[in-house]
Amino acid sequence: MNDFPVVAKTELGPGIKKIVVKAPLLAARAGPGQFVILRLDPRGERIPLTISDFDRAEGTITLIFQEVGFTTRQLGSLQVGDVIRDLAGPLGKPARLDYYGVVLCVGGGVGAAPLYPIARALAGCGNRVVGVIGARSSRFLILKKEMEGFCKPLIITTDDGSEGIRGPMTEGVKRYLEQHQPPRYCVCIGPPQMMEAVCRLTACYQIKTAVSLNPIMVDGTGMCGACRVLVGGEVKFACVEGPEFDGHLVDWDLLKARLQVYRHEERAADSLFSRGFQGRGMCRR
Ligand SMILES: Cc1cc2nc3c(=O)[nH]c(=O)nc-3n(C[C@H](O)[C@H](O)[C@H](O)COP(=O)(O)OP(=O)(O)OC[C@H]3O[C@@H](n4cnc5c(N)ncnc54)[C@H](O)[C@@H]3O)c2cc1C
Ligand code: FES
Repeated sequence: MNDFPVVAKTELGPGIKKIVVKAPLLAARAGPGQFVILRLDPRGERIPLTISDFDRAEGTITLIFQEVGFTTRQLGSLQVGDVIRDLAGPLGKPARLDYYGVVLCVGGGVGAAPLYPIARALAGCGNRVVGVIGARSSRFLILKKEMEGFCKPLIITTDDGSEGIRGPMTEGVKRYLEQHQPPRYCVCIGPPQMMEAVCRLTACYQIKTAVSLNPIMVDGTGMCGACRVLVGGEVKFACVEGPEFDGHLVDWDLLKARLQVYRHEERAADSLFSRGFQGRGMCRR
């Protein structure tokens, strides 16, 4: 069987959707930090999404995603009862979980989705989790209630000041570090620019920092090379050796440049979607 039905769907914010998908074998093996690669139809592109939660008893996984282009918009248009054609996973290495005492967990925008299961598991290891989540404005903040359940404290930042500290996420991290003993470990997930800025800050305090990288991925098996990143001067394939890496060793310029490689094609596909094209039989090349 390779059809995976959507069993629940919620809108968490403008263009941010949460879907629960029936996938018992996947739910049975999923761990915090792992992801799936999905394809909506036989001619669709394959996109990676983090497993934001899983329920082994129900046999379901939860995906939270931002509609940024063709496939995420197409995914967002699915309704309960619709199916995802292919779902491969769990992929990637699970996040490193250990006891550190106090851990700083930082999630920017939809980065709070992959952060959530990792932060929760770190709390489960006996750590006190200090959470920092941020977004453009309060409407885009996700998983606040869930994170509040185990973060002590949960610091919130918004660019426009509509909730919590006004300013970029680094402002929340900076304020915490100025007023407290630096934690031994930090996990940071979000847009590359934000992860890079947080890593610069944690490097000043010598806090070991894990980041979850989001390079373009195709096969998710370590064979196509699309997801290659440079970490500590070594080429790594994020799909099999990551997605979690030491943030202080990542070549951020290379990651950001490689994310732009298909920008013209992505714009063209997005404009097709906006004109009502739903993704069947397009490619004539
Ligand atoms: C391991 C991993 C986990 C991820 N988890 C999440 C998540 O939980 N929630 C979420 O909203 N997003 C997540 N992403 C990003 C998500 O895969 C992209 O937003 C999605 O692929 C965009 O596809 P699109 O066709 O809608 O947009 P496009 O128009 O194709 O692309 C928009 C932008 O998304 C990025 N992107 C495009 N294709 C890929 C691809 N195959 N792999 C990675 N990035 C791509 C590029 O930066 C591009 O500029 C994750 C990425 C990785 C690598
Ligand atoms: S996605 Fe192909 S090698 Fe990682």
